[in-house]
Amino acid sequence: MDWTTGGLVTANPVWVGSSELTMTPGGLRACVDAGAGAVVAKSVNESAAARRQLDIADYAFVSPDREVRQPGVAHREDGLLNRSGLAQVALDEWLGILAEAVSHGAGRGCPVLGSITLGDPPAAARIGRAMAKVVPGVELNIGAPHGREATAVRQLTEVDAVAEAVRAVRATVDVPLFVKLPGQASDVVALARAARSAGADGIGLVGRYPGFLPDLDGGAVLGSWGAWGSPACLPMSLYWVSKTRLALGPDVPLVGTNGARTTADVLRFLASGAGAVEIVTALWTDGPPVLAELAEGVQSFLEARDLTPAAFVGSALEGARDYADVAPVRPPAWLRYAGPSGR
Ligand SMILES: Cc1cc2nc3c(=O)[nH]c(=O)nc-3n(C[C@H](O)[C@H](O)[C@H](O)COP(=O)(O)O)c2cc1C
Repeated sequence: MDWTTGGLVTANPVWVGSSELTMTPGGLRACVDAGAGAVVAKSVNESAAARRQLDIADYAFVSPDREVRQPGVAHREDGLLNRSGLAQVALDEWLGILAEAVSHGAGRGCPVLGSITLGDPPAAARIGRAMAKVVPGVELNIGAPHGREATAVRQLTEVDAVAEAVRAVRATVDVPLFVKLPGQASDVVALARAARSAGADGIGLVGRYPGFLPDLDGGAVLGSWGAWGSPACLPMSLYWVSKTRLALGPDVPLVGTNGARTTADVLRFLASGAGAVEIVTALWTDGPPVLAELAEGVQSFLEARDLTPAAFVGSALEGARDYADVAPVRPPAWLRYAGPSGR
């Protein structure tokens, strides 16, 4: 079963998203070998300050009832609150690491993409030009939640800024370009449309959210604000995936991310309109075997129903109505609501 997303052909729709797990040659190879459809390397940009932020990176896994786990303990249902920075490697050295990972992936049918988290658009365009010489695809992250806390990376939430940044990078990147958007913007569909018009081959939906969690001991978990993701973020991600699919149509490739932990979650992303799904936190909690588990789960589900990827992707939209088209329903008994007349 082949999957095609934004010009990349992959063996399955389970991609590894960019994170510290794809920041080393060994990490990149491990994700390829574990059966990822594609692997997105850790982001880089031009800023020394963004690299220094990795020195203050810290991670707290948080249980579904908001208790911080002991160090070394993490479960798949957990949320993750963290600070993070970008890869601390000079660009030339990084391109060498990418080239080696790309060739390892190519031998196993797994594209390895480069990633840039936006700082300054002209600098991102320069890095993109160099990166495109060694990778089959580039992801431009303009949705980093850390952009709200530090200026070394930027989170764009306005249409004009998105168009300007994507146009600049598109002009120098001659391989498929994926643009990863924030989930926290007033109109993410408008940002997707702007990114597409400015030349993106695919749209990533959506970045994690800014988060804050008091420790009830006079301070905050991690001692600062951070980036937050959890399985409960899934419906919020799927809101924008489904709305973007509806607005932009099936010809615009979407890559889902933020909240998928299980095979059913990956299927929910696909049914909402994503052609591929980026996994990170489940990989941190369960290790590389989770990739084959999810990929095989998706394949079995589609085979059992004799469905092609094209038939399944976006299929949930056929059963979703605008509020104006929903027929009246009886209020549930527990609501004890007497109806508009008060009777
Ligand atoms: C520790 C950590 C570091 C991350 N670093 C990056 C990054 O450098 N660039 C990027 O585009 N996304 C980054 N992300 C976001 C992930 O690629 C992914 O979109 C996000 O974690 C949501 O997927 P998940 O719910 O499977 O974790 C990072 C996420 C985590 C948890």
